[in-house]
Amino acid sequence: MKKALLPLLLIIPAACTQTPKNTEKSYPIVDSLLRVMTLEEKVGQTVLFTSDWTVTGPSIRQGYIEDIRAGRCGSIFNAYTAEYTRKLQEVAVNETRLGIPLLFGYDVIHGFRTIFPINLGMSCTWNPGAIERSARVAAKEAAAAGLHWTYSPMCDICMEPRWGRISEGAGEDPYLGSLIAAAMTRGYQGKDLAADTTVLACVKHYAAYGAPIAGRDYNTVDMSERWLREYYLPPYKAAIKAGALSVMASFNELDGIPATANRHLLQDILRDEWGFTGFVVTDYTGIPEMVFHGYADDDEDAGRLAMNAGVDMDMQGAAYMNYLADLVRSGAVKESTLNEAVRRILTVKAKLGLFEDPYRYCSPEREKSQTLTQENKAEARAVAAESMVLLKNDGVLPLKKGVKTAVIGALAASKDDLLGSWRGAGEVESVPASILDAIKEVTPVVYAEGCQEEGEDRSGFAAALAAARGASQVVLVIGEDCQWSGEAASRSDIHIPGVQSELLEKLAAAGKKVAVVLLNGRPLDLSAESETAGAILEAWYPGTMGGYAVADVLFGDVNPNGKLSVTFPRTLGQVPIYHYAKNTGRPYRYTGAKYESRYLDVPNEPLYAFGHGLSYTTFKYSPITLSADNFSGSGNLEARITVTNTGTCEGIETVQMYIRDLVGSVTRPVKQLKGFTKIALRPGESREICFTIDRCTLSFYRADMTWGPESGGFKIMIGGSSDNVQEASFSYEE
Ligand code: NOJ
Repeated sequence: MKKALLPLLLIIPAACTQTPKNTEKSYPIVDSLLRVMTLEEKVGQTVLFTSDWTVTGPSIRQGYIEDIRAGRCGSIFNAYTAEYTRKLQEVAVNETRLGIPLLFGYDVIHGFRTIFPINLGMSCTWNPGAIERSARVAAKEAAAAGLHWTYSPMCDICMEPRWGRISEGAGEDPYLGSLIAAAMTRGYQGKDLAADTTVLACVKHYAAYGAPIAGRDYNTVDMSERWLREYYLPPYKAAIKAGALSVMASFNELDGIPATANRHLLQDILRDEWGFTGFVVTDYTGIPEMVFHGYADDDEDAGRLAMNAGVDMDMQGAAYMNYLADLVRSGAVKESTLNEAVRRILTVKAKLGLFEDPYRYCSPEREKSQTLTQENKAEARAVAAESMVLLKNDGVLPLKKGVKTAVIGALAASKDDLLGSWRGAGEVESVPASILDAIKEVTPVVYAEGCQEEGEDRSGFAAALAAARGASQVVLVIGEDCQWSGEAASRSDIHIPGVQSELLEKLAAAGKKVAVVLLNGRPLDLSAESETAGAILEAWYPGTMGGYAVADVLFGDVNPNGKLSVTFPRTLGQVPIYHYAKNTGRPYRYTGAKYESRYLDVPNEPLYAFGHGLSYTTFKYSPITLSADNFSGSGNLEARITVTNTGTCEGIETVQMYIRDLVGSVTRPVKQLKGFTKIALRPGESREICFTIDRCTLSFYRADMTWGPESGGFKIMIGGSSDNVQEASFSYEE
């Protein structure tokens, strides 16, 4: 392996769930403005419209510039470049009575111009530091193009592969998801929101948007308060604790109440419990959609419900613009409620430094010098390689350089698909190499398209087989078109589409050991491919530098070290499947007994478990040694394990620690991720890893919904994957 290895990364367990303390500074400019603003001007600050530059929802409002000029619209999204945002800002600053600057938002989801891997891929790095750096790069590029506000981090826990938006999140686990949510927030906002290199983060989609019934986008969500709090809320909370100052209400309903008018979520939990002081924005037309939900009579009623529930800003709904002033005049909304919303929005504008210099973020010079730089691209290439997960390897990888290699698949030649969905302002012209191009730079290549990602056309099979026969090694790039992930991209079938798998079968039947590279945005059913492929590298949609990053991993310049942040089922019938399942009263004991919790036709276990990911080297784990077999109160216990690189090349391992609480006042999962550490080891090198277990590690929502641990027996499990662990037992006395 040529590349330098990562230094030891110790991931410190997230702190116990104390309410974050937000010390609010007040801004005199905000008070002065509120004193002189008319009712209409106040309403204008609660209105957010899209420009017509990018379409991210079903409706576009014509005449948004006129709205700005008339003071009807205080924020704009989907408009960017230093030049264009300056032009719009000039209208707000010079042509409205009070000259309040606009706030410019955009979906900077996994990069702005330099595109990083999709977020699901990034989460497989299990490297919050690298994720924070990627968010910093994105913020720098976006802030230079006039943007103040990104609609990220997406904090939706998801165990539903049918849902296209699983690609935008950090997977199924609340512990890992929380670390990532906090890292992204820090990356975007930095230490100083007013700096011209930072942008405001927006925590979305609050809440539980990642659990739509049957995986259909925008569908109903329903779950117990306990499940919500334990598994779904932690990442949103972690981002807020890290300082995020805006939150987006989700499209879905929860327990029968749309999130956009859900006071329990927006007031009780978000503000009263978590101390959130920023502002809440709806998702795209979230307010009028409450009429379709059957929760509001009409748009006016929906506007009343949203404002009274704690929604400060209306994205694209026009309900606040059209009705809020009248609702205040009639007393249906208190003026003090509107004042509070406006105060929150203006305070964030003040924190961004917009009242000092509304054009601070519009810099054509910075836009040129800080965008798509060599440094940004190097960061993207490194993270992309780190995000890839080697699912299977029968000794096929790494490939040899300088050896004739057949590269097959339409996706191999695609630059566009590398960028994935929600690619910010990323352009295909900025992608220097497809996977095919990058492989060509290291080895002689014969290329055959074989087939497209979709459709039944097998006419390219013969040429693909001929190419494979004439080569010493074969790479097949297959997966999903990148627009099959993201918003409004749910699938009812999670197989690899079209005839791509059939092509793999044919290549395998011809005696070829095929290295499959997958480009996709969700866990797929790979049962068939896992039998026929010689190796499977899950490359997700790896971004601008993704072609090179794939080649880096295929040819061993980078030893793969990604680990799955989401479970890959054997079949859709196992979904939802996740590593923190419970034991049930009739656990499966593999005895052949009938009345056990299992399927008749497939095993209970997934195809690839959460935490799985191979390396070109191998790691051996010693048994666990505990510093004691019990501890109590605020004490702690140390669990040590020695990991040895038993292979022939250096590699990076993610050592994962899981806990099981054997008996509780409510039942507990069979395993739950509670800590991890990433270590680099040379061949033959060993390192002892120590995890500290304290009452915080053991805490959960007890039967009375208080947060804390309970006395009793516990199991600790440590290993390189959730399904490959060493075990030890201890007890705790509260
Ligand atoms: C709808 C999406 O749900 C959300 O994630 C996005 O930020 C907004 N549209 C704005 O584009």
